[in-house]
Amino acid sequence: MSSPLRIAVLASGRGSNFAALLAARERGELAVEFVLVASDKADATVLALAQTAGIPTLVLNPRDYAERRDYDIALFDRIAVSKPDLIVLAGFMRIIDGDALKPWAGKMINIHPSLLPKYRGMHTHRRALKAGDAEHGASVHYVTAELDGGPVIAQVTLAIESGDTEDTLAGKLLPLEHRLLPAVVACIADDRLALGDQGIAFDGELLRKPLLWTGGKLVR
Ligand code: GAR
Repeated sequence: MSSPLRIAVLASGRGSNFAALLAARERGELAVEFVLVASDKADATVLALAQTAGIPTLVLNPRDYAERRDYDIALFDRIAVSKPDLIVLAGFMRIIDGDALKPWAGKMINIHPSLLPKYRGMHTHRRALKAGDAEHGASVHYVTAELDGGPVIAQVTLAIESGDTEDTLAGKLLPLEHRLLPAVVACIADDRLALGDQGIAFDGELLRKPLLWTGGKLVR
């Protein structure tokens, strides 16, 4: 049997998506090894979650670096020491320098709370409501130098109902994110997903549109 996929998680805050990954592993749905949880915020709750689970943590403060690029290069140099096969951005709220990303092309994914390419960046729930959208959702995508712009692997959708607010939408979407992200990571761990020159391959066939999380699984 091959050794489990080594995962480093980068997160800036509460870490509920990381907790969902941990829970999926506990349930036996994710054969991975968490080798590091890294954060730009010393007080991020995600660090306490990692420590409780016995996973090594790393905090690097952007204020200790003159330029964003210097910080990003230092951060990914430190992450590389843990030899991850995959880096998962789970609520990492920083833009990452293109040079720092280069060595990780096809090995870094991000979860974003919108139906990309809609609403890259911040305040996605507010923007979906303001636009009068009928549906909203979350996306998991490969990370490229373009903010929230890399190839989208999979999405989950939810209907926007009258009376929804930014808070109710966020509250309804988060549990769906918690299913979507582990499902995508499991596909990568099982060698079912890969990013190549032609695009994303799933089970050996190119994806023409993102996979959809529905009925408890990812479907084409
Ligand atoms: C999640 O909703 C995630 O989609 C979002 O941050 C939240 C992190 O929550 N990510 C982004 O907005 C990235 N652009 P968590 O810390 O509880 O996982």
